[in-house]
Amino acid sequence: MARFRIAVLGGDGIGPEVVGEAVKVLEAVAATALEHVFELTEDKVGGAAIDAYGTAIRKETIALARRSDAVLFGAVGGPKWDDPKAAVRPEQAILGLRAALGTFANLRPARMQPALVHLSPLKPEIVQGADVLFIRELVAGTYFARPKKYWQDARGQWRAVDTTAYTESQVERTVRMAFELARGRRKRLHVADKQNVMATSRLWRDVASRVAAEFTDVEFQPILTDALAMHLLYRPLEFDVIVTDNLFGDLLTDEAAVLAGSMGLMPSASLGEARNRHSGYRGLYEPIHGTAPDIAGRGVANPIAAIQSMALLLRYSLGLQREATAVERAVDDAIELGLRTPDIARAGEKTARTSEVGDAIAAAVTRELGGAASSVSRSSDAG
Ligand code: NAD
Ligand code: IPM
Ligand code: MN
Repeated sequence: MARFRIAVLGGDGIGPEVVGEAVKVLEAVAATALEHVFELTEDKVGGAAIDAYGTAIRKETIALARRSDAVLFGAVGGPKWDDPKAAVRPEQAILGLRAALGTFANLRPARMQPALVHLSPLKPEIVQGADVLFIRELVAGTYFARPKKYWQDARGQWRAVDTTAYTESQVERTVRMAFELARGRRKRLHVADKQNVMATSRLWRDVASRVAAEFTDVEFQPILTDALAMHLLYRPLEFDVIVTDNLFGDLLTDEAAVLAGSMGLMPSASLGEARNRHSGYRGLYEPIHGTAPDIAGRGVANPIAAIQSMALLLRYSLGLQREATAVERAVDDAIELGLRTPDIARAGEKTARTSEVGDAIAAAVTRELGGAASSVSRSSDAG
């Protein structure tokens, strides 16, 4: 019997709403896998933790994440905590977790589901079949390098500085993971950089070109990030795997949501060197979308990105391949059957609520795997 420990950190806005549906789907998986026990521990992060504890993420929460086999994360932030000069900010929760777990490679798949081709502002002949995997470096670069500050100088003028810095090993481990993933796909890898302007980009291109020599079966091509931002929408089918730094990866993957059809369809898995007790990655799984304050609390958020993130968790952290595939199939079926939240529905089409989508996907998982009694235990670290 395996005992899987999962930390569940919903966060703010739609975060807890979509994570709740992913947990529902996990419960359906657990009910069919009686030889395993799934222990879920919930905690507050982001604005919710600032309100409760005065900090975006408590030390106890980081410790919980470290001793868990995987972490499922919703999203953090919102207008209530939006003071740009505040010392305590909701985003510190997710940035702190990524750093603490050392999850340097953030996998962000963007795939156009055939049934959703109408959603894209792109012409069907351009976007049909798009299937791109981004690998975003996640624990270094502009997000983390020092100095990083916002201050007033002696003359009273406001100043700010961010630093972009990378070491060869930080780039190499990320690029290597990207080549390996490309090997399991269509064997084409682009590295996106701004080597015409940035020194860090020249390092990225040099390291990627050196590693490419070990992966002669993978077609390797460097590309300037600004050009890529354009080509991605004109000819998405030409891209398979794209590896890039932390900041470029953040920008490009929101753009890539246009290929998938909605922010609500973009999951992610963050993996590093650390392994859990099941020889899987001690990974961090989160939809790429934010807290969507414009729709929070209305029961209309699309839970699919969170549910797909749960599928990645089953695959990369728990080694449950069959279950991961079952969840992904259940998601595809729900979409095919027309069970759609407003963000992915056609004009005039009947829409489903967040919980209805979760229920239907959970039921499909049960059918797919053949159901029995549940074995999920839940506790809370908060309070
Ligand atoms: P957002 O991703 O929250 O929303 C962008 C747009 O996409 C909105 O119109 C929203 O309604 C829609 N959308 C997003 N997710 C959706 C879903 N699951 N279903 C249906 N529609 C969805 O980005 P934003 O509005 O720029 O940011 C809002 C807040 O979230 C900010 O405080 C930001 O810092 C934070 N944020 C957090 C994370 C994170 O915690 N990982 C990621 C991105 C943004
Ligand atoms: C993301 C988000 C985060 C990022 C924010 C909330 C810190 O935009 O996960 O894409 O910039 O990495
Ligand atoms: Mn982002």
